[in-house]
Amino acid sequence: MSTGYIPQEVLDEIAARCDIVSVINEYVPLKRRGSNYQGLCPFHNEKTPSFSVSPGKQIFHCFGCGKGGNVFRFIMDIEGISFLEAVEKLAKRANVPLPEKEMTAEQRKKMEQRKRYLQINDFAARYYHKVLMESQQGKPYREYLKRRQISDEIIEKFQLGATPPGWDSLYQALKKRGVSNQEMLDLGLISESRKNGQYIDRFRQRLMFPIGDEKGNVIAFGGRIIDKDASPQKYLNSPDTPLFHKSRNLYGLHLARTGIRNADQAIIVEGYMDVISCHQYGITNAVAPLGTAFTPEQGRLLMRNTYQMGISFDGDAAGIKATMRCLDILSDLGCTARVIQIPDQADPDEYLKKYGKEAFERLIKEAQELIMYKIARFMETTNTDTITGKMKVVSMLLPDLRKMQSAVARETAIREISIRLQVSEKAVWDELRKSSDAAAEPGRKEEEASVSVQETEQKAGNIESKIEKNILHILFDRPDLLELVESYGGVSLFDSPAAELYQEFQSSIRRCGKVDSAGIGQDKGQLLANLLMDELYITDQEKTMNNALWQLKAERLDQEYQRLSQRLTENTKVGETGNMHEILQKLDNIRREKKELETSRKGE
Ligand code: GTP
Ligand code: MN
Repeated sequence: MSTGYIPQEVLDEIAARCDIVSVINEYVPLKRRGSNYQGLCPFHNEKTPSFSVSPGKQIFHCFGCGKGGNVFRFIMDIEGISFLEAVEKLAKRANVPLPEKEMTAEQRKKMEQRKRYLQINDFAARYYHKVLMESQQGKPYREYLKRRQISDEIIEKFQLGATPPGWDSLYQALKKRGVSNQEMLDLGLISESRKNGQYIDRFRQRLMFPIGDEKGNVIAFGGRIIDKDASPQKYLNSPDTPLFHKSRNLYGLHLARTGIRNADQAIIVEGYMDVISCHQYGITNAVAPLGTAFTPEQGRLLMRNTYQMGISFDGDAAGIKATMRCLDILSDLGCTARVIQIPDQADPDEYLKKYGKEAFERLIKEAQELIMYKIARFMETTNTDTITGKMKVVSMLLPDLRKMQSAVARETAIREISIRLQVSEKAVWDELRKSSDAAAEPGRKEEEASVSVQETEQKAGNIESKIEKNILHILFDRPDLLELVESYGGVSLFDSPAAELYQEFQSSIRRCGKVDSAGIGQDKGQLLANLLMDELYITDQEKTMNNALWQLKAERLDQEYQRLSQRLTENTKVGETGNMHEILQKLDNIRREKKELETSRKGE
């Protein structure tokens, strides 16, 4: 494997210091199961965990989608970065110094540009914060925050700010510090005035909310007017920039991560002020999308911390629609999503102020699961006194009933539907069956097709022979048996891809006395994971190894014998006798080898 400029020993050191379970646990909540850890696979959508991490072998494997490998592979795939980038990331985490890297000029430029962008944003955030806290112009904003009962502590925590007066104060301040117009435009901090082509600040007369990435770097801003006449637009956000994609970030995530992990639940609210209020009242697991509809990417970000989501959007028609959509996204991702309903069309901010933390926590506890929420909403908008109305509601619920994985959950839901709609459970079951059959017609073909594709893919990449698998697995545990394998013929025993994996094993054992999963080529990582995830229950590994090798060798000899005799027959048929002697000689050799093999067995 090419490791670029990083020597193998350094890779070994990094892998040794980065326990795969704790690394992955930062992205995927894991629960212990036997000697492994399990969670929902971050690489495909699933509802029951088939993603497994082995601390003993320092590898991960998903039985659902087949992804697997060592800790480097995981970081590469989850972050979408290259092998070297993954190594660097983990080296930093493990405090392992890396040799000076030869960055390409372009890479260095990109990295430095990003650093500069972050510094500029950081400057802007501190500038806005200073205006809010220390200037005369900040006074109305301070008063506004006071009216809304936002504490100083929270103002600090969220680094709230205010825009300076005038059209271009930030522009001038940044310019004085050598920031180019282009950089300010790139970051969406200024815009070109339509009137005279001058540059003006994008955010004017607004209370400022810096938006952080997961680590808390300021990547964008949101700004709220406090004076109705300032602008028809209540909120203005940064546009998408090289640092910021509104569909891939969440407001408050860096401040909520610990809270989410501690509560094992994330609360998704609609607005900046809701997040802020929640935190002020000690609900520190609240986040919000950034003024647009909730996206699957945002769901995935949250799933690095928990699988339980509580949605608390506004209770108006738009809010209900957004809630339904968010529920679907989250449940398709495999989360348990519930709806925290706030009475009287209030938002979390208003509710907390009026009724306090305990009341809000009660609402969290009483949150409704997807299906219950949908039953209620559909019944509100449909007249269910009529048969057509009842049928309509049932049919709207069918897709969700079909998607449910748990039989108990489905039964409970159907009971609820039958009670609420006053129809028999059997009728709902019948509808469900009918719709499943109908959905299966076009749907099943799709399913079958995808299954067979997956199967062929796996065939191409998997070790089919159980016996080859066992030999490699034992060799992984018992590197001292390498010479034994070699004595039976080594690599010639294996078919592809086991042969390639064996060669990796061999060179790793010769290099450092063991099979080092960190040193296995990235393309083999998945194969290895696949292999090792099958638990081996063997008491005497050496004996099993001997038997397996013997058997495999015998099989190989038989195969070769058969192949050659067939060739002999064919040659005779067409009158080709040139290499007959050679073939006969070979067949003789095989017979002798087979005999030796058998004696060696008896002699044992
Ligand atoms: P307050 O009105 O101060 O309580 O704020 P809020 O956070 O409760 O806002 P609201 O419920 O009105 O809106 C929810 C979220 O939608 C906001 O936090 C913004 O992200 C977004 N939003 C609201 N109004 C606008 C707007 O005019 N433009 C844009 N781009 N986003 C908006
Ligand atoms: Mn509000």
